[in-house]
Amino acid sequence: MSEMNTDSRARLNQTPEWAALGKHREQLGDTHLRDLFAADKERGSRYTLRVGDLYLDYSKHLVTDETLTLLRELAAATDVAGLRDAMFRGERINTTENRAVLHTALRAPRDAVIEVDGENVVPGVHAVLDKMAAFSERVRSGTWTGHTGKPIKNIVNIGIGGSDLGPAMAYEALRSFTRRDLTFRFVSNVDGADLHEAVHDLDPAETLFIVASKTFTTIETVTNATSARTWLLTGLDAGQEAVAKHFVALSTNAGKVQDFGIDTANMFEFWDWVGGRYSFDSAIGLSLMIAIGPDRFREMLDGFHLVDEHFRTAPPEQNAPLLLGLLGIWYGAFFDAQSHAVLPYSHYLSKFTAYLQQLDMESNGKSVDRDGNPVDWQTGPVVWGTPGTNGQHAYYQLIHQGTKVIPADFIGFARPVDGFQPGLVAQHDLLMANFFAQTQALAFGKTPEEVGAEGVAEELVPHKTFQGNHPTTTLLAGELTPSVLGQLIALYEHKVFVQGAVWNIDSFDQWGVELGKVLAKKIEPVLTEGTGGDQLDGSTATLAATYRELRGR
Ligand code: F6P
Repeated sequence: MSEMNTDSRARLNQTPEWAALGKHREQLGDTHLRDLFAADKERGSRYTLRVGDLYLDYSKHLVTDETLTLLRELAAATDVAGLRDAMFRGERINTTENRAVLHTALRAPRDAVIEVDGENVVPGVHAVLDKMAAFSERVRSGTWTGHTGKPIKNIVNIGIGGSDLGPAMAYEALRSFTRRDLTFRFVSNVDGADLHEAVHDLDPAETLFIVASKTFTTIETVTNATSARTWLLTGLDAGQEAVAKHFVALSTNAGKVQDFGIDTANMFEFWDWVGGRYSFDSAIGLSLMIAIGPDRFREMLDGFHLVDEHFRTAPPEQNAPLLLGLLGIWYGAFFDAQSHAVLPYSHYLSKFTAYLQQLDMESNGKSVDRDGNPVDWQTGPVVWGTPGTNGQHAYYQLIHQGTKVIPADFIGFARPVDGFQPGLVAQHDLLMANFFAQTQALAFGKTPEEVGAEGVAEELVPHKTFQGNHPTTTLLAGELTPSVLGQLIALYEHKVFVQGAVWNIDSFDQWGVELGKVLAKKIEPVLTEGTGGDQLDGSTATLAATYRELRGR
Protein backbone atom coordinates (compact mmCIF):
# COMPACT_ATOMS: atom_id res chain seq x y z
CA MET A 1 0.00 0.00 0.00
CA SER A 2 1.41 3.39 -0.98
CA GLU A 3 2.51 5.89 1.62
CA MET A 4 1.18 8.60 -0.65
CA ASN A 5 -2.38 9.71 -0.27
CA THR A 6 -3.60 10.45 -3.75
CA ASP A 7 -7.32 10.00 -3.19
CA SER A 8 -7.97 13.41 -1.76
CA ARG A 9 -6.61 15.31 -4.74
CA ALA A 10 -9.02 17.45 -6.71
CA ARG A 11 -9.26 16.74 -10.43
CA LEU A 12 -6.55 18.86 -12.02
CA ASN A 13 -8.81 20.69 -14.43
CA GLN A 14 -11.40 21.36 -11.72
CA THR A 15 -9.00 23.35 -9.57
CA PRO A 16 -9.26 27.13 -9.28
CA GLU A 17 -5.59 27.36 -10.30
CA TRP A 18 -6.35 25.62 -13.60
CA ALA A 19 -9.33 27.89 -14.19
CA ALA A 20 -7.18 30.95 -13.46
CA LEU A 21 -4.64 29.80 -16.03
CA GLY A 22 -7.43 29.27 -18.59
CA LYS A 23 -8.72 32.78 -18.03
CA HIS A 24 -5.23 34.20 -18.21
CA ARG A 25 -4.64 32.41 -21.50
CA GLU A 26 -7.73 34.08 -22.92
CA GLN A 27 -6.51 37.46 -21.78
CA LEU A 28 -3.13 36.84 -23.31
CA GLY A 29 -4.88 36.21 -26.65
CA ASP A 30 -2.39 36.53 -29.47
CA THR A 31 0.08 38.71 -27.59
CA HIS A 32 3.31 38.45 -29.55
CA LEU A 33 6.81 37.92 -28.21
CA ARG A 34 7.63 41.14 -30.05
CA ASP A 35 5.20 42.96 -27.72
CA LEU A 36 6.54 41.25 -24.60
CA PHE A 37 10.12 42.21 -25.43
CA ALA A 38 9.10 45.76 -26.39
CA ALA A 39 7.33 46.16 -23.04
CA ASP A 40 10.29 44.97 -20.98
CA LYS A 41 13.79 45.91 -22.05
CA GLU A 42 15.22 43.64 -19.35
CA ARG A 43 13.29 40.55 -20.39
CA GLY A 44 16.25 38.94 -22.18
CA SER A 45 18.33 39.01 -19.00
CA ARG A 46 15.56 38.86 -16.41
CA TYR A 47 13.99 35.63 -17.64
CA THR A 48 17.14 33.59 -17.14
CA LEU A 49 18.50 31.15 -14.57
CA ARG A 50 21.88 29.68 -13.78
CA VAL A 51 22.12 26.15 -12.44
CA GLY A 52 25.60 24.78 -12.01
CA ASP A 53 27.25 25.21 -15.41
CA LEU A 54 23.95 25.65 -17.22
CA TYR A 55 22.59 28.99 -18.37
CA LEU A 56 18.88 28.81 -19.06
CA ASP A 57 17.09 31.52 -21.03
CA TYR A 58 13.29 31.33 -20.97
CA SER A 59 12.63 34.85 -22.19
CA LYS A 60 11.36 33.58 -25.56
CA HIS A 61 8.37 31.89 -23.97
CA LEU A 62 4.78 33.05 -24.25
CA VAL A 63 4.62 33.96 -20.59
CA THR A 64 4.43 37.03 -18.38
CA ASP A 65 5.19 37.42 -14.70
CA GLU A 66 1.54 36.65 -14.08
CA THR A 67 1.69 33.44 -16.11
CA LEU A 68 4.66 32.27 -14.12
CA THR A 69 2.97 33.08 -10.83
CA LEU A 70 -0.18 31.21 -11.87
CA LEU A 71 1.85 28.20 -13.01
CA ARG A 72 3.70 28.10 -9.70
CA GLU A 73 0.36 28.28 -7.92
CA LEU A 74 -0.72 25.24 -9.90
CA ALA A 75 2.44 23.44 -8.79
CA ALA A 76 1.70 24.36 -5.19
CA ALA A 77 -1.92 23.23 -5.45
CA THR A 78 -0.85 19.88 -6.87
CA ASP A 79 1.85 19.52 -4.22
CA VAL A 80 4.76 18.95 -6.57
CA ALA A 81 7.14 19.74 -3.72
CA GLY A 82 5.47 17.14 -1.48
CA LEU A 83 5.84 14.39 -4.07
CA ARG A 84 9.42 15.51 -4.80
CA ASP A 85 10.32 15.27 -1.12
CA ALA A 86 8.65 11.86 -0.89
CA MET A 87 10.75 10.70 -3.85
CA PHE A 88 13.99 11.92 -2.27
CA ARG A 89 12.99 10.27 1.03
CA GLY A 90 12.64 6.92 -0.68
CA GLU A 91 8.87 6.55 -0.35
CA ARG A 92 7.09 4.20 -2.71
CA ILE A 93 5.77 6.86 -5.06
CA ASN A 94 5.63 4.39 -7.97
CA THR A 95 2.29 3.22 -6.70
CA THR A 96 1.30 0.77 -9.43
CA GLU A 97 4.52 -1.19 -8.95
CA ASN A 98 4.74 -0.39 -5.24
CA ARG A 99 8.34 0.79 -5.58
CA ALA A 100 10.50 3.61 -4.36
CA VAL A 101 11.95 5.90 -7.03
CA LEU A 102 15.49 6.62 -6.02
CA HIS A 103 17.71 7.25 -9.03
CA THR A 104 18.87 10.30 -7.07
CA ALA A 105 20.59 7.87 -4.64
CA LEU A 106 22.79 6.61 -7.51
CA ARG A 107 24.70 9.89 -7.53
CA ALA A 108 24.58 10.70 -3.84
CA PRO A 109 27.93 11.30 -2.13
CA ARG A 110 29.45 8.44 -0.14
CA ASP A 111 28.43 9.89 3.23
CA ALA A 112 24.76 10.52 2.33
CA VAL A 113 22.04 8.56 4.10
CA ILE A 114 19.00 7.56 2.02
CA GLU A 115 16.77 4.86 3.41
CA VAL A 116 14.45 2.42 1.73
CA ASP A 117 12.44 0.39 4.24
CA GLY A 118 14.80 1.49 7.00
CA GLU A 119 17.98 0.49 5.15
CA ASN A 120 20.55 3.05 4.00
CA VAL A 121 21.08 2.30 0.30
CA VAL A 122 24.07 4.61 -0.25
CA PRO A 123 26.81 2.17 0.90
CA GLY A 124 25.48 -0.41 -1.55
CA VAL A 125 25.50 2.14 -4.38
CA HIS A 126 29.13 3.00 -3.68
CA ALA A 127 30.15 -0.63 -3.30
CA VAL A 128 28.91 -1.26 -6.85
CA LEU A 129 30.57 1.91 -8.15
CA ASP A 130 33.84 0.75 -6.58
CA LYS A 131 33.47 -2.69 -8.13
CA MET A 132 32.75 -1.08 -11.52
CA ALA A 133 35.80 1.18 -11.12
CA ALA A 134 38.09 -1.75 -10.32
CA PHE A 135 36.78 -3.74 -13.28
CA SER A 136 37.01 -0.73 -15.63
CA GLU A 137 40.63 -0.18 -14.66
CA ARG A 138 41.44 -3.81 -15.34
CA VAL A 139 39.94 -3.59 -18.83
CA ARG A 140 41.52 -0.19 -19.55
CA SER A 141 44.95 -1.33 -18.38
CA GLY A 142 44.79 -4.59 -20.33
CA THR A 143 45.07 -6.75 -17.22
CA TRP A 144 41.60 -8.22 -17.80
CA THR A 145 42.35 -10.71 -20.50
CA GLY A 146 40.11 -12.91 -22.58
CA HIS A 147 40.05 -16.71 -22.76
CA THR A 148 43.16 -16.85 -24.93
CA GLY A 149 45.10 -14.37 -22.80
CA LYS A 150 44.68 -11.39 -25.15
CA PRO A 151 43.70 -8.04 -23.61
CA ILE A 152 40.19 -6.73 -24.34
CA LYS A 153 40.02 -4.21 -27.19
CA ASN A 154 36.31 -4.28 -28.02
CA ILE A 155 33.41 -3.69 -25.65
CA VAL A 156 29.90 -4.55 -26.86
CA ASN A 157 26.96 -3.49 -24.70
CA ILE A 158 23.87 -5.61 -25.30
CA GLY A 159 20.69 -4.09 -23.88
CA ILE A 160 17.58 -2.24 -24.97
CA GLY A 161 15.56 0.78 -23.82
CA GLY A 162 17.04 2.12 -20.62
CA SER A 163 19.76 -0.52 -20.76
CA ASP A 164 20.99 0.82 -24.10
CA LEU A 165 19.92 4.39 -24.79
CA GLY A 166 21.75 5.97 -21.85
CA PRO A 167 25.16 4.35 -22.34
CA ALA A 168 24.94 4.70 -26.14
CA MET A 169 23.94 8.38 -25.89
CA ALA A 170 26.59 9.21 -23.28
CA TYR A 171 29.32 7.39 -25.18
CA GLU A 172 28.61 9.62 -28.18
CA ALA A 173 28.26 12.72 -26.01
CA LEU A 174 31.60 12.18 -24.28
CA ARG A 175 33.49 10.68 -27.20
CA SER A 176 36.32 13.16 -26.83
CA PHE A 177 36.92 11.85 -23.31
CA THR A 178 36.92 8.18 -24.35
CA ARG A 179 39.79 5.78 -24.89
CA ARG A 180 40.18 6.00 -28.63
CA ASP A 181 42.16 2.77 -28.80
CA LEU A 182 39.19 0.75 -27.57
CA THR A 183 36.15 0.02 -29.72
CA PHE A 184 32.68 0.41 -28.23
CA ARG A 185 29.51 -0.89 -29.86
CA PHE A 186 25.90 -0.93 -28.66
CA VAL A 187 23.50 -3.65 -29.72
CA SER A 188 19.79 -3.37 -28.94
CA ASN A 189 17.57 -4.44 -31.82
CA VAL A 190 16.41 -8.05 -32.07
CA ASP A 191 16.92 -7.62 -35.82
CA GLY A 192 19.99 -9.79 -36.33
CA ALA A 193 21.50 -7.02 -38.46
CA ASP A 194 22.33 -5.08 -35.30
CA LEU A 195 24.51 -7.77 -33.73
CA HIS A 196 25.91 -8.81 -37.10
CA GLU A 197 27.14 -5.31 -37.91
CA ALA A 198 28.46 -4.83 -34.37
CA VAL A 199 30.67 -7.93 -34.31
CA HIS A 200 31.43 -8.98 -37.89
CA ASP A 201 34.81 -7.20 -37.92
CA LEU A 202 35.82 -7.97 -34.32
CA ASP A 203 38.19 -10.59 -32.99
CA PRO A 204 36.27 -12.67 -30.41
CA ALA A 205 39.47 -13.18 -28.42
CA GLU A 206 39.58 -9.41 -27.76
CA THR A 207 35.85 -8.84 -27.25
CA LEU A 208 33.93 -8.31 -24.03
CA PHE A 209 30.13 -8.44 -23.97
CA ILE A 210 28.30 -6.46 -21.32
CA VAL A 211 24.78 -7.84 -21.04
CA ALA A 212 22.68 -5.04 -19.59
CA SER A 213 19.18 -5.89 -18.45
CA LYS A 214 17.44 -4.88 -15.26
CA THR A 215 15.11 -7.85 -15.41
CA PHE A 216 17.31 -10.17 -17.48
CA THR A 217 14.14 -11.43 -19.10
CA THR A 218 13.86 -8.95 -21.96
CA ILE A 219 13.52 -11.08 -25.07
CA GLU A 220 15.62 -8.87 -27.35
CA THR A 221 18.54 -8.78 -24.93
CA VAL A 222 18.47 -12.44 -23.96
CA THR A 223 18.21 -13.43 -27.64
CA ASN A 224 21.09 -11.17 -28.69
CA ALA A 225 23.21 -12.26 -25.73
CA THR A 226 22.62 -15.92 -26.64
CA SER A 227 23.62 -15.25 -30.25
CA ALA A 228 26.68 -13.33 -29.08
CA ARG A 229 27.70 -16.28 -26.92
CA THR A 230 27.40 -18.61 -29.91
CA TRP A 231 29.47 -16.18 -32.04
CA LEU A 232 32.12 -16.03 -29.33
CA LEU A 233 32.39 -19.73 -28.63
CA THR A 234 32.38 -20.60 -32.34
CA GLY A 235 34.99 -17.96 -33.06
CA LEU A 236 37.22 -19.11 -30.22
CA ASP A 237 36.47 -22.76 -30.85
CA ALA A 238 36.00 -23.00 -27.10
CA GLY A 239 33.48 -24.36 -24.64
CA GLN A 240 31.31 -22.74 -22.00
CA GLU A 241 34.35 -22.05 -19.79
CA ALA A 242 35.30 -19.16 -22.12
CA VAL A 243 32.14 -17.25 -21.22
CA ALA A 244 33.41 -16.02 -17.85
CA LYS A 245 36.20 -13.96 -19.43
CA HIS A 246 34.03 -12.45 -22.16
CA PHE A 247 30.63 -11.83 -20.56
CA VAL A 248 29.62 -9.66 -17.64
CA ALA A 249 26.10 -8.74 -16.60
CA LEU A 250 24.40 -5.59 -15.30
CA SER A 251 21.17 -6.57 -13.63
CA THR A 252 18.91 -6.79 -10.60
CA ASN A 253 18.25 -10.48 -11.28
CA ALA A 254 21.14 -12.69 -10.07
CA GLY A 255 19.17 -15.92 -10.66
CA LYS A 256 18.59 -15.25 -14.36
CA VAL A 257 22.18 -14.06 -14.82
CA GLN A 258 23.41 -17.36 -13.39
CA ASP A 259 20.98 -19.32 -15.57
CA PHE A 260 22.49 -17.63 -18.60
CA GLY A 261 25.92 -18.90 -17.59
CA ILE A 262 27.47 -15.67 -16.37
CA ASP A 263 29.37 -15.94 -13.09
CA THR A 264 27.58 -13.68 -10.57
CA ALA A 265 31.03 -12.52 -9.46
CA ASN A 266 30.99 -10.73 -12.81
CA MET A 267 27.56 -9.21 -12.24
CA PHE A 268 27.17 -5.55 -11.37
CA GLU A 269 24.04 -5.08 -9.39
CA PHE A 270 21.37 -2.44 -9.14
CA TRP A 271 17.99 -2.32 -7.46
CA ASP A 272 14.27 -2.31 -8.12
CA TRP A 273 14.05 1.33 -7.01
CA VAL A 274 15.97 2.30 -10.18
CA GLY A 275 13.64 2.56 -13.18
CA GLY A 276 15.09 1.34 -16.49
CA ARG A 277 14.98 4.80 -18.09
CA TYR A 278 16.59 6.30 -14.98
CA SER A 279 19.30 3.66 -14.73
CA PHE A 280 22.15 4.84 -16.86
CA ASP A 281 24.06 6.30 -13.90
CA SER A 282 23.82 2.90 -12.15
CA ALA A 283 25.78 -0.22 -13.13
CA ILE A 284 24.12 0.22 -16.54
CA GLY A 285 26.81 2.85 -17.18
CA LEU A 286 29.65 0.29 -17.04
CA SER A 287 30.49 0.58 -20.75
CA LEU A 288 30.70 4.35 -20.37
CA MET A 289 32.90 4.01 -17.31
CA ILE A 290 35.29 1.80 -19.25
CA ALA A 291 35.27 4.36 -22.04
CA ILE A 292 35.88 7.52 -20.00
CA GLY A 293 37.38 6.10 -16.80
CA PRO A 294 36.04 6.06 -13.24
CA ASP A 295 37.11 9.63 -12.41
CA ARG A 296 35.25 11.15 -15.32
CA PHE A 297 32.26 8.94 -14.52
CA ARG A 298 32.30 10.33 -10.96
CA GLU A 299 32.40 13.87 -12.37
CA MET A 300 29.28 13.02 -14.34
CA LEU A 301 27.53 11.67 -11.22
CA ASP A 302 28.48 14.86 -9.37
CA GLY A 303 26.87 16.85 -12.18
CA PHE A 304 23.64 14.86 -11.71
CA HIS A 305 23.82 15.40 -7.96
CA LEU A 306 24.29 19.13 -8.32
CA VAL A 307 20.99 19.41 -10.20
CA ASP A 308 19.29 16.99 -7.78
CA GLU A 309 20.20 19.35 -4.96
CA HIS A 310 19.06 22.34 -6.96
CA PHE A 311 15.69 20.70 -7.64
CA ARG A 312 15.32 19.69 -4.00
CA THR A 313 16.23 23.04 -2.46
CA ALA A 314 15.89 25.95 -4.90
CA PRO A 315 12.88 28.20 -4.34
CA PRO A 316 10.13 27.83 -6.95
CA GLU A 317 11.05 31.12 -8.69
CA GLN A 318 14.55 29.83 -9.37
CA ASN A 319 13.87 26.14 -9.73
CA ALA A 320 14.83 25.19 -13.29
CA PRO A 321 13.19 21.73 -13.56
CA LEU A 322 10.02 23.16 -12.04
CA LEU A 323 10.02 25.99 -14.54
CA LEU A 324 10.63 23.75 -17.55
CA GLY A 325 7.98 21.29 -16.41
CA LEU A 326 5.40 24.03 -15.93
CA LEU A 327 6.14 25.61 -19.31
CA GLY A 328 5.44 22.28 -20.99
CA ILE A 329 2.16 21.96 -19.11
CA TRP A 330 1.21 25.51 -20.15
CA TYR A 331 1.66 24.76 -23.85
CA GLY A 332 0.04 21.33 -23.75
CA ALA A 333 -3.04 22.48 -21.88
CA PHE A 334 -3.60 26.00 -23.16
CA PHE A 335 -1.98 26.11 -26.63
CA ASP A 336 -2.81 22.54 -27.64
CA ALA A 337 0.87 21.80 -28.29
CA GLN A 338 1.19 18.10 -29.09
CA SER A 339 4.92 17.80 -29.36
CA HIS A 340 8.17 19.13 -27.97
CA ALA A 341 11.36 19.45 -29.99
CA VAL A 342 14.81 19.03 -28.45
CA LEU A 343 17.42 20.45 -30.80
CA PRO A 344 21.03 20.15 -29.64
CA TYR A 345 23.60 22.27 -31.47
CA SER A 346 26.25 19.70 -30.73
CA HIS A 347 26.96 16.75 -32.91
CA TYR A 348 28.09 14.89 -29.80
CA LEU A 349 24.49 15.05 -28.58
CA SER A 350 23.22 13.22 -31.66
CA LYS A 351 21.54 10.56 -29.52
CA PHE A 352 20.38 12.88 -26.77
CA THR A 353 16.85 13.38 -28.06
CA ALA A 354 16.38 9.64 -28.61
CA TYR A 355 17.41 9.13 -25.00
CA LEU A 356 14.92 11.78 -23.88
CA GLN A 357 12.17 10.12 -25.89
CA GLN A 358 12.23 7.14 -23.56
CA LEU A 359 12.73 9.27 -20.48
CA ASP A 360 9.78 11.50 -21.26
CA MET A 361 7.40 9.40 -23.33
CA GLU A 362 7.70 6.16 -21.35
CA SER A 363 7.31 8.16 -18.15
CA ASN A 364 4.45 10.47 -19.05
CA GLY A 365 2.68 8.70 -21.91
CA LYS A 366 -0.24 7.86 -19.61
CA SER A 367 -3.98 8.40 -19.80
CA VAL A 368 -5.17 7.42 -16.34
CA ASP A 369 -4.31 9.20 -13.11
CA ARG A 370 -2.70 7.67 -10.05
CA ASP A 371 -6.08 6.35 -8.92
CA GLY A 372 -6.86 4.81 -12.31
CA ASN A 373 -9.34 7.45 -13.45
CA PRO A 374 -9.11 8.59 -17.07
CA VAL A 375 -7.47 11.99 -17.35
CA ASP A 376 -9.13 14.67 -19.41
CA TRP A 377 -6.09 16.87 -19.86
CA GLN A 378 -3.04 16.54 -22.06
CA THR A 379 -0.21 14.44 -20.63
CA GLY A 380 3.26 13.83 -22.11
CA PRO A 381 4.15 15.33 -25.49
CA VAL A 382 5.71 13.64 -28.47
CA VAL A 383 9.42 14.37 -28.03
CA TRP A 384 11.50 14.62 -31.17
CA GLY A 385 14.45 16.35 -32.76
CA THR A 386 17.95 15.92 -34.16
CA PRO A 387 21.06 18.05 -33.97
CA GLY A 388 21.26 21.46 -35.60
CA THR A 389 22.22 22.56 -38.12
CA ASN A 390 21.01 19.42 -39.94
CA GLY A 391 17.42 19.87 -38.83
CA GLN A 392 17.38 23.39 -40.30
CA HIS A 393 17.64 21.87 -43.76
CA ALA A 394 14.97 19.28 -43.11
CA TYR A 395 12.01 20.01 -40.85
CA TYR A 396 12.52 23.53 -39.42
CA GLN A 397 10.34 24.81 -42.25
CA LEU A 398 7.34 23.30 -40.46
CA ILE A 399 8.31 24.82 -37.12
CA HIS A 400 8.70 28.26 -38.71
CA GLN A 401 5.72 28.37 -41.04
CA GLY A 402 3.56 25.33 -40.29
CA THR A 403 0.29 25.34 -38.39
CA LYS A 404 1.47 23.66 -35.20
CA VAL A 405 2.66 24.99 -31.87
CA ILE A 406 5.99 23.26 -31.20
CA PRO A 407 7.88 24.47 -28.15
CA ALA A 408 11.56 23.70 -28.64
CA ASP A 409 14.68 23.42 -26.50
CA PHE A 410 17.91 24.62 -28.08
CA ILE A 411 21.04 23.28 -26.38
CA GLY A 412 24.50 24.60 -27.21
CA PHE A 413 28.03 25.12 -25.92
CA ALA A 414 30.37 28.09 -26.00
CA ARG A 415 33.49 26.07 -26.74
CA PRO A 416 34.09 23.02 -28.90
CA VAL A 417 35.82 20.15 -27.17
CA ASP A 418 39.62 20.02 -27.00
CA GLY A 419 41.61 18.54 -29.85
CA PHE A 420 39.95 19.99 -32.96
CA GLN A 421 42.20 21.42 -35.65
CA PRO A 422 42.10 25.27 -35.67
CA GLY A 423 39.79 25.52 -38.66
CA LEU A 424 37.19 23.37 -36.92
CA VAL A 425 37.45 25.46 -33.78
CA ALA A 426 36.68 28.51 -35.90
CA GLN A 427 33.58 26.77 -37.33
CA HIS A 428 32.05 26.78 -33.89
CA ASP A 429 30.99 30.45 -34.15
CA LEU A 430 29.10 29.62 -37.33
CA LEU A 431 27.34 26.73 -35.58
CA MET A 432 26.29 28.97 -32.71
CA ALA A 433 25.35 31.87 -35.00
CA ASN A 434 22.86 29.44 -36.56
CA PHE A 435 21.58 28.48 -33.12
CA PHE A 436 20.93 32.07 -32.10
CA ALA A 437 19.52 32.96 -35.51
CA GLN A 438 16.97 30.17 -35.29
CA THR A 439 15.67 31.11 -31.85
CA GLN A 440 15.57 34.75 -32.94
CA ALA A 441 13.64 33.96 -36.12
CA LEU A 442 11.26 31.64 -34.30
CA ALA A 443 10.48 34.26 -31.67
CA PHE A 444 10.27 37.45 -33.70
CA GLY A 445 9.59 36.26 -37.23
CA LYS A 446 9.33 38.71 -40.09
CA THR A 447 6.21 40.82 -40.58
CA PRO A 448 4.49 41.38 -43.95
CA GLU A 449 5.59 45.03 -43.69
CA GLU A 450 9.21 44.01 -43.29
CA VAL A 451 8.92 41.62 -46.21
CA GLY A 452 7.17 44.25 -48.35
CA ALA A 453 9.84 46.83 -47.54
CA GLU A 454 12.41 44.53 -49.15
CA GLY A 455 10.60 44.95 -52.46
CA VAL A 456 9.10 41.46 -52.52
CA ALA A 457 6.25 41.09 -55.04
CA GLU A 458 2.92 41.44 -53.29
CA GLU A 459 1.71 37.94 -54.10
CA LEU A 460 4.82 36.47 -52.50
CA VAL A 461 4.58 38.47 -49.28
CA PRO A 462 2.42 35.87 -47.42
CA HIS A 463 4.83 33.13 -48.42
CA LYS A 464 7.86 35.03 -47.17
CA THR A 465 6.27 36.22 -43.95
CA PHE A 466 7.35 34.57 -40.72
CA GLN A 467 4.64 34.72 -38.10
CA GLY A 468 7.17 34.17 -35.28
CA ASN A 469 5.89 33.75 -31.71
CA HIS A 470 7.26 30.21 -31.53
CA PRO A 471 8.43 29.51 -27.97
CA THR A 472 11.93 28.26 -27.28
CA THR A 473 14.14 27.55 -24.30
CA THR A 474 17.85 28.15 -24.67
CA LEU A 475 20.28 26.05 -22.66
CA LEU A 476 23.92 27.08 -22.85
CA ALA A 477 27.04 25.78 -21.15
CA GLY A 478 30.74 26.42 -21.58
CA GLU A 479 31.63 22.96 -22.79
CA LEU A 480 30.13 19.47 -23.00
CA THR A 481 31.96 17.81 -20.10
CA PRO A 482 30.90 14.71 -18.13
CA SER A 483 29.59 16.97 -15.37
CA VAL A 484 27.57 19.09 -17.79
CA LEU A 485 26.07 15.97 -19.35
CA GLY A 486 25.01 14.79 -15.88
CA GLN A 487 23.50 18.19 -15.17
CA LEU A 488 21.54 18.19 -18.41
CA ILE A 489 20.12 14.71 -17.89
CA ALA A 490 19.10 15.42 -14.30
CA LEU A 491 17.43 18.62 -15.45
CA TYR A 492 15.26 16.66 -17.87
CA GLU A 493 14.61 13.84 -15.40
CA HIS A 494 13.20 16.31 -12.90
CA LYS A 495 11.30 18.25 -15.53
CA VAL A 496 9.52 15.01 -16.44
CA PHE A 497 8.90 14.39 -12.73
CA VAL A 498 7.27 17.82 -12.29
CA GLN A 499 4.93 17.23 -15.19
CA GLY A 500 3.88 13.81 -13.96
CA ALA A 501 3.27 15.24 -10.48
CA VAL A 502 1.01 18.01 -11.78
CA TRP A 503 -0.82 15.67 -14.17
CA ASN A 504 -1.26 13.23 -11.27
CA ILE A 505 0.03 10.26 -13.25
CA ASP A 506 2.50 7.55 -12.28
CA SER A 507 5.63 8.58 -14.22
CA PHE A 508 7.52 5.48 -13.13
CA ASP A 509 5.57 2.54 -14.50
CA GLN A 510 5.36 1.46 -18.16
CA TRP A 511 2.45 -0.95 -18.48
CA GLY A 512 1.88 0.27 -22.04
CA VAL A 513 4.83 -1.74 -23.34
CA GLU A 514 3.53 -5.08 -22.08
CA LEU A 515 0.75 -5.98 -24.52
CA GLY A 516 3.02 -5.95 -27.57
CA LYS A 517 5.50 -8.24 -25.81
CA VAL A 518 2.79 -10.79 -24.97
CA LEU A 519 1.34 -10.73 -28.49
CA ALA A 520 4.79 -11.12 -30.12
CA LYS A 521 5.27 -14.33 -28.16
CA LYS A 522 1.98 -15.67 -29.52
CA ILE A 523 2.69 -14.60 -33.10
CA GLU A 524 6.24 -15.97 -33.33
CA PRO A 525 5.17 -19.66 -33.57
CA VAL A 526 2.62 -18.73 -36.24
CA LEU A 527 5.47 -17.32 -38.34
CA THR A 528 7.91 -20.10 -37.59
CA GLU A 529 5.68 -23.16 -37.56
CA GLY A 530 2.58 -21.94 -39.35
CA THR A 531 0.27 -23.10 -36.56
CA GLY A 532 -2.23 -21.08 -34.56
CA GLY A 533 -3.02 -18.51 -37.25
CA ASP A 534 -6.72 -19.21 -36.69
CA GLN A 535 -6.35 -17.71 -33.20
CA LEU A 536 -5.35 -14.34 -34.67
CA ASP A 537 -7.49 -11.49 -35.92
CA GLY A 538 -8.17 -11.37 -39.69
CA SER A 539 -5.55 -8.76 -40.51
CA THR A 540 -2.73 -10.26 -38.47
CA ALA A 541 -3.53 -13.79 -39.70
CA THR A 542 -3.36 -12.62 -43.34
CA LEU A 543 -0.13 -10.74 -42.69
CA ALA A 544 1.39 -13.83 -41.06
CA ALA A 545 0.36 -16.00 -44.01
CA THR A 546 1.78 -13.47 -46.49
CA TYR A 547 5.01 -13.28 -44.51
CA ARG A 548 5.39 -17.05 -44.61
CA GLU A 549 4.73 -17.08 -48.34
CA LEU A 550 7.34 -14.35 -48.97
CA ARG A 551 9.79 -16.21 -46.77
CA GLY A 552 9.24 -19.30 -48.89
CA ARG A 553 7.67 -21.41 -46.17
O1 F6P B 1 9.90 -2.64 -22.35
C1 F6P B 1 10.25 -1.46 -21.72
C2 F6P B 1 11.37 -1.68 -20.77
O2 F6P B 1 10.93 -2.36 -19.66
C3 F6P B 1 12.04 -0.38 -20.39
O3 F6P B 1 11.38 0.28 -19.38
C4 F6P B 1 13.41 -0.84 -20.06
O4 F6P B 1 14.32 0.23 -20.05
C5 F6P B 1 13.65 -1.82 -21.18
O5 F6P B 1 12.41 -2.45 -21.38
C6 F6P B 1 14.72 -2.83 -20.92
O6 F6P B 1 14.46 -3.59 -19.79
P1 F6P B 1 15.56 -4.49 -19.11
O7 F6P B 1 16.66 -3.59 -18.64
O8 F6P B 1 14.88 -5.20 -17.98
O9 F6P B 1 16.07 -5.46 -20.13
